[in-house]
Amino acid sequence: MSDKQNTPSPQAKPPYFERHIFFCLNERKNQEACCAQSGAQAAFDHCKGRVKALGLAGPGQVRVNKAGCLDRCAGGPVAVVYPEGAWYSFVDLSDIDEIVDSHLKEGRVVTRLLLPADVGH
Ligand code: FES
Repeated sequence: MSDKQNTPSPQAKPPYFERHIFFCLNERKNQEACCAQSGAQAAFDHCKGRVKALGLAGPGQVRVNKAGCLDRCAGGPVAVVYPEGAWYSFVDLSDIDEIVDSHLKEGRVVTRLLLPADVGH
């Protein structure tokens, strides 16, 4: 048997975080459109607070992270949840509540908030 066959694959271990959500908080100084102009920081803060309040934060659960430009600016403000790779475009804090309660807590993607596949830079 080779060493390769004896080495467990990284996928065999449970992930450090069950889900990871990244918010684009990119701010452009030259008046170009960016997620920071559309309430991204407030959405990030709200998400982080709600995840913590619901007891979902931490290893084996959920991590809420800041990100720079995620290169899907036309759909901003945007956030992406892994491991599903579900891209969201949100309008207000009730949208964030729905992403937390449905996707981050229950694993159900919020289809009404998904960013269309053809929305890019
Ligand atoms: S500025 Fe947010 S995705 Fe580019």
